[in-house]
Amino acid sequence: MKLTDTTLFLGLFATNTLAQLGTPPSGCCATAAMLRFGCSKLVIERLDPLVNPGVVGTPHNHQIVGGNSFNASMDPAVMDPANESTCTSCTFSEDFSNYWTANLYFQARNGSFKRVPQMVNLGLKGNEGITVYYIPPYDGKTKVTAFKQGFRMLVGDAMLRQAEGQQKQLCHRCYSNIEQDPFGGAPCTGNDTSYLPLEKCEGGIRTTITFPTCWDGKNLDSPDHKSHVAYPTTGSFETTGPCPASHPIRLPQLMYEIMWDTREFNREEWEVGKQPFVYSMGDATGFGQHGDYIFGWKDDALQRAMDNRCTGDSCPNVLKTQSSDAAASCTLPQTLKEDIEGWIPTLPGGAPVVY
Ligand SMILES: *[C@@H]1O[C@H](CO)[C@@H](O)[C@H](O)[C@H]1NC(C)=O
Ligand SMILES: *[C@@H]1O[C@H](CO)[C@@H](O)[C@H](O)[C@H]1NC(C)=O
Ligand SMILES: *[C@@H]1O[C@H](CO)[C@@H](O)[C@H](O)[C@H]1NC(C)=O
Ligand SMILES: *[C@@H]1O[C@H](CO)[C@@H](O)[C@H](O)[C@H]1NC(C)=O
Repeated sequence: MKLTDTTLFLGLFATNTLAQLGTPPSGCCATAAMLRFGCSKLVIERLDPLVNPGVVGTPHNHQIVGGNSFNASMDPAVMDPANESTCTSCTFSEDFSNYWTANLYFQARNGSFKRVPQMVNLGLKGNEGITVYYIPPYDGKTKVTAFKQGFRMLVGDAMLRQAEGQQKQLCHRCYSNIEQDPFGGAPCTGNDTSYLPLEKCEGGIRTTITFPTCWDGKNLDSPDHKSHVAYPTTGSFETTGPCPASHPIRLPQLMYEIMWDTREFNREEWEVGKQPFVYSMGDATGFGQHGDYIFGWKDDALQRAMDNRCTGDSCPNVLKTQSSDAAASCTLPQTLKEDIEGWIPTLPGGAPVVY
């Protein structure tokens, strides 16, 4: 079976997701709602306004997508991305949020590195980038509250090199073919691993990063960028599990998928017994993968999308969209110029590799 149709993909995704949650309550979930859309490459560079605000040349680089007001500081007291951006690399043209993750590199036997390009996901168009999901609770009844202006959060720990201490819902999937067949169920189920796959993945590697869905209702951020949000107390792919009393407000479930096109590197000679892919922070284990989010939807556009149970990458009469070409043409120059395409002797920022 070839999955080329977004509707079919979403149906399968939802079916698999619901299967993980057990039998849905009667009357529930005839159609699962979820925004699923592409955001093309905005810029690849060493900035991190969440973890290292104001720093130009952070220790590792990121793949950044979304609104073009992205910069090193992004102080929520003085800037709203929806006010400052003049374009976005995302399909929904009212979404000026910024989404970013580490980049993946291939390390050749001679020690040199080359960035692994990202492919566009099934059913979508664009130029590299991240597939973004916003998923309201499956029961269709639980009230979901969109993020507020100034909201930001982080999932994962860039310093981690072991399984112990890793947050939930950070996974890799190894595809044996480019059609993503077999589909393999909801993220972080089946053969998914929190570490980087150890074998050759002929159809590429998928990274999934799923954010917490419960909010304390007060803080737009916290010192660790994590403790103002929490995962539900139960549920594997958390869309309906109860929120803890400390974090009672239900948020949309934000998820990133990054499709790494490893195919050209599978043709290179690998060292025996060692997978050659390394995240930009020098992490060859994969346990350090992480995702950052700065909310930037215009006005109440995201709340409207959730209330109307918008699904896929268009929602006529509710959300404005732009063509994938227009989205891909929204780019930023690097603040700190660095080669991100050629073979390089060390990772940008020089992080040593931990295997
Ligand atoms: C980021 O953009 C905001 C809004 O335009 C601006 O006030 C701020 O100075 C910029 N910061 C940097 C580091 O460029
Ligand atoms: C965004 O723009 C609106 C309208 O001009 C203004 O009222 C608001 O203060 C701005 N927000 C920020 C954070 O700059
Ligand atoms: C290192 O190996 C890669 C892949 O085989 C090759 O393309 C590159 O030219 C080599 N670099 C050096 C400095 O030898
Ligand atoms: C897990 O891997 C096994 C062995 O390669 C394969 O037969 C099976 O279909 C995979 N399961 C899923 C859910 O992809």
